[in-house]
Amino acid sequence: MYNEIKLDKIDITSKPPNVEPARQYYFMAKCREKVRMFEQENGRRPTACVTTFGCQMNARDSEKLSGILKEVGYREVASEEADFVIFNTCTVRDNANQRVYGRLGELKGRKRRNRQMKIALCGCMMQESSVIEKIRTSYSFVDLIFGTHNIYKFAELLYNTFESEGMITDIWEDTDRIVEDLPMERKYPFKSGINIMFGCNNFCSYCIVPYVRGRERSREPEDIFREIRGLVADGVVEIMLLGQNVNSYGRNLKYPITFAELLREVEKIDGLRRIRFMTSHPKDLSDDLIRVMKESDKICRHLHLPLQSGSTGILQRMNRRYTKEQYVDLALKIRREIPDIALTTDIIVGFPGETKADLEETIDVVRTVKFDNAFTFIYSKRTGTPAAAMEDQVSEEQVREGFERLLKVVQDTAREQAARYEGSVGEALIEEVNRDDGALVTGRLSNNMIVHVPGDASLVGKLVQVSLDECRGFYYMGTVL
Ligand code: SAH
Ligand code: SF4
Ligand code: F3S
Repeated sequence: MYNEIKLDKIDITSKPPNVEPARQYYFMAKCREKVRMFEQENGRRPTACVTTFGCQMNARDSEKLSGILKEVGYREVASEEADFVIFNTCTVRDNANQRVYGRLGELKGRKRRNRQMKIALCGCMMQESSVIEKIRTSYSFVDLIFGTHNIYKFAELLYNTFESEGMITDIWEDTDRIVEDLPMERKYPFKSGINIMFGCNNFCSYCIVPYVRGRERSREPEDIFREIRGLVADGVVEIMLLGQNVNSYGRNLKYPITFAELLREVEKIDGLRRIRFMTSHPKDLSDDLIRVMKESDKICRHLHLPLQSGSTGILQRMNRRYTKEQYVDLALKIRREIPDIALTTDIIVGFPGETKADLEETIDVVRTVKFDNAFTFIYSKRTGTPAAAMEDQVSEEQVREGFERLLKVVQDTAREQAARYEGSVGEALIEEVNRDDGALVTGRLSNNMIVHVPGDASLVGKLVQVSLDECRGFYYMGTVL
């Protein structure tokens, strides 16, 4: 495992090794030397700030960046007033891109004040050539750009920025590699995300993820188990298995295994208390998975099952490969089999060609399935996707109206669903001291609902029984039993 490798023992006067991850450890050792020089010159350690813009997978990648920065000696800070700032970007909707450009503009002045400052960009947005062009012309003060496929090379690229002037760009079109055993710095000591697969092969017609994350690749089960065992030994009690479509996990492995089978094995890991996963594509959700969830003591009572639209016609144009009826049947079957489960979803409003009648179909599904929560998004046109070329884009006014109407139904349903637990007892993992009221701590129930209870920092990271005393809309006020 990585933490057994001592950077100081690596001979940095020799040539870099050609195998991974040894090569990256060599560059970490080289970077560490640079960091020590900085320290000598400035009388302090250099600081680094990693900012995440995207999804859980993006956040997990940021932990890899943080792990390497820590390993080489940076002090991580939350402020972008740091010596090294890296933005891990997202491009799933245009507003994610706009946020990156806005924040990047703010960094320009900081860099002028701190001549030693380095700025790096990585993540999904960097896989788009139009973005790279724009950064080259309008944000030429950026020092390093890399993409999603070569993130494992971060130590090497970081070292290159010390050695050369000007912008370094290293973007790969795709990859079939997975490099294991690099350092990671977890945000929470007691819970962690774990990649089980990378990329996506589904090509939903609105979605840019398959273009920027490449083809689907599953990690070897043994690598996953080893990582989980290591995390558990390190104090982790809850894990979230991550993939764009976890239900197709393992299909392309040399010895194929299903996601349900993987879960059965993960369940056996001693000391692990809770298992979550994300995201499930409805078209691939098997009865076996429902059975495993039902029989499990550790798999949390929460399933995120993106609907996207309730109209079969729109679903077809979205290339989702299920109908309204298939989705509803599946959701109701899950509710029947696992009555205490929380079902959450993603919905897009304003997909090209969506009529008011289509939206009514979506609302009908929300009312029938009674989602415990739903993330509603306004359709965002992504260059290069099939939907971007569809002609009948929906007017802004219709989208806004539809969005507000849907949001109201979603909120009413979620509130109604949340209320059904009032007076019951549940197990919560306490995650943090409440940000607004220091006398409270905030925990998460198995069904992903939030509960605030009186308590102090000593409870953080612990699983406790709580009574759910009062429902306040989408969350609970409770007491530790
Ligand atoms: N792999 C996951 C979703 C990843 S993206 C899945 O298939 O469920 C997260 C969510 O962003 C999607 O579920 C979808 O609702 C939304 N999304 C993706 N592309 C979008 C676009 N072009 N416009 C608006 N929302 C989008
Ligand atoms: Fe995008 Fe569809 Fe893949 Fe999810 S399954 S990442 S929505 S293409
Ligand atoms: Fe965004 Fe990339 Fe995740 S586009 S949603 S960060 S996979």
